[in-house]
Amino acid sequence: MKRDLVSIMDVKDDLMEIINLGMEVKKNPKKYSEALKGKSLAMIFEKPSTRTRTSFEVGMTQLGGHALYMSPRDLQMGRGETIEDTAKVLSRFVDGIIYRAFDHKMVIALAQNATVPVINALDDVEHPAQIIADLMTILEKKGKLKGLKVSFIGDGNNVANSLMLGCAIVGADFYIASPKGYEIKDEYVTLARKVANGKSKIVVTNDPIEAAKDADVIYTDVWVSMGEESEKEKKEKAFKDYQINGNLVKHAKKDFIFMHCLPAHRGLEVTSEVIDGPNSVVFDEAENRLHAQKALMIKLMS
Ligand code: CP
Ligand code: NVA
Repeated sequence: MKRDLVSIMDVKDDLMEIINLGMEVKKNPKKYSEALKGKSLAMIFEKPSTRTRTSFEVGMTQLGGHALYMSPRDLQMGRGETIEDTAKVLSRFVDGIIYRAFDHKMVIALAQNATVPVINALDDVEHPAQIIADLMTILEKKGKLKGLKVSFIGDGNNVANSLMLGCAIVGADFYIASPKGYEIKDEYVTLARKVANGKSKIVVTNDPIEAAKDADVIYTDVWVSMGEESEKEKKEKAFKDYQINGNLVKHAKKDFIFMHCLPAHRGLEVTSEVIDGPNSVVFDEAENRLHAQKALMIKLMS
């Protein structure tokens, strides 16, 4: 049976295996240079991308396969062909599809109608491929995942949802601090607590200091996600006390790492002092997108 990655929950039982394979692929890239020989990956992007597109496209080349970038503007989807027909047709040509969509329901519809694996390349609800690379980065830097305090300070958005679920799966404590009105959705918190099953903590707060206190990892993301441009002014006001800056990170452990899925906005969600400072691992994190995405494709497509 083909497997998809629509939600990070889809790899709940083999998340650690994929992360470990990512580390192995990073160490021995040559060993995997023919792992997907002759296979093709379709990449549909409704929104811009630097890291996701490049990591999957280069990853596919490094595994001996080939990737095709498709913008809905150029696809018949842009002229009204249904997602169901698109899924069925692409399945006759390619061995996997990645999809960056505005609407989570569209990713589900693509996965349900494709006979090849579908990977969510970010939508309004989740960004699971990012989180595999992030957990791999934390493991690389800290030597473990279980028992760490991972704190997300910012918008209760797609990245936060996947990171919270990912932390629950691997047994890390997850704290999230957001301003009133921008908290992570209760249904995901409930799901994460169910997954954590009492073995790790999932804490939701409006207090950034509570989240930052003794944190091993401080993570943030943009305040204004793609598709929310009209809310820019309102959100920037609401989030101003949630900036990751020198004062806030003083509360974290001395050896905390700073993470950001990128792209970043210096002076808004994070200061240059932090993102360009000694605790920041954002570029290793970005590089790990490549290794983690290769592991993910090997797992789902070979
Ligand atoms: N972090 C991330 O997904 O970046 P891109 O939008 O550049 O793909
Ligand atoms: N939350 C951001 C992540 C970008 C990688 C967005 O959806 O735009």
